[in-house]
Amino acid sequence: MKLAIVGSGNIVHDFLTITKDLKDTELTAIIGTKRSSDILGQLKEQYDIGKIYTDYDAALKNGDFDTVYIAVPNSLHYSFAKKALEHGKNVISEKPFTVKYKEFEVLKKIALDKKSVLIEAITNQYLQNYLDLKRELPDLGNLKLIESNYSQYSAKYDAFKAGKILPAFDPKKGGGALMDLNIYNIHFIVGLLGKPKSVEYLPNIEKNIDTSGILTLDYGPCKAVAIGAKDSVTPFRRTIIQGDRGSIIVNGPTNKMESFDVYDNDKKLVKKVDNSVYPHRMYQEFIEFERIIREKDLKTVEKQLDHSEIVMWVVKKALKSANLKLE
Ligand SMILES: NC(=O)c1ccc[n+]([C@@H]2O[C@H](COP(=O)([O-])OP(=O)(O)OC[C@H]3O[C@@H](n4cnc5c(N)ncnc54)[C@H](OP(=O)(O)O)[C@@H]3O)[C@@H](O)[C@H]2O)c1
Repeated sequence: MKLAIVGSGNIVHDFLTITKDLKDTELTAIIGTKRSSDILGQLKEQYDIGKIYTDYDAALKNGDFDTVYIAVPNSLHYSFAKKALEHGKNVISEKPFTVKYKEFEVLKKIALDKKSVLIEAITNQYLQNYLDLKRELPDLGNLKLIESNYSQYSAKYDAFKAGKILPAFDPKKGGGALMDLNIYNIHFIVGLLGKPKSVEYLPNIEKNIDTSGILTLDYGPCKAVAIGAKDSVTPFRRTIIQGDRGSIIVNGPTNKMESFDVYDNDKKLVKKVDNSVYPHRMYQEFIEFERIIREKDLKTVEKQLDHSEIVMWVVKKALKSANLKLE
């Protein structure tokens, strides 16, 4: 895959550390803003990236790449993905896919019509520990409860309180705890149980944005609760899955899934599982994206889009239930 990275912020810096091990991915371009020219130059040198662009349209027109990795603020995912698809590029978009459900639907239609790859970069769906956890679920019997907590005190929260609103806390840029952190819990739960019957979100709101909140997902005989916070911490960032024959504790936040422990109904540890294949959470997803694009595996693309669509539906219902408006 010939990849153009769009953005030069936190996640791009993080992602670039693994690219030396993505043997079949060639970094042919990085696209950013003029104000970040110095950073773009540094990244180009450090990671041997082909070319810098500060004009997205020019990059799409002239750039030597087949795929864009969109890692800009949430509110830009839609327009950037749409343009790239219209130029015949494959698109890997950071989470959340789009801010609005309707925007996701537009992108999906374009990608399916053009037979292009459109996929959400959502780490947990590709982690070996997640794939193995799915295989363990039948041993828990009938699932009853899932409780997932991804709380992380954000350095940007201090700036937010002081009056500087960065994109992750900006309702105009699709920010907030639901979109930023709880989205991982939603993917985690939807990946196990599919579409819930109903959804309710109870947020803590400051300056028109949810700095933390509790989301409930009703699956009939099984109920799930997803907690996401950018304004407070928990010493236990973990997920607990309870069935009538046993339970599982997933250690670490739902974007990493460091390991999981299986217990029987006597609370006895049955086994500890850690089948991580690489220390960095983004490795497995990008190995899979490269394969999907190389093989033009549109079946998998459709399957993953169906999954993302349910997640987007949950987000839509959650925001509506809390009367939260994001742009
Ligand atoms: N997968 C993960 O683990 C993970 C983790 C964190 C974030 N994310 C996601 O990744 C995305 C970016 O987050 P981040 O934390 O990296 O944010 P960030 O540090 O604020 O970086 C955003 C980047 O987008 C660039 N940008 C803004 N407007 C642009 C434009 N019009 N054209 C080109 N580039 C533009 C910014 O450039 P300037 O600085 O010049 O404005 C900056 O380089 C978000 O959607 C977030 O949800 C994913």
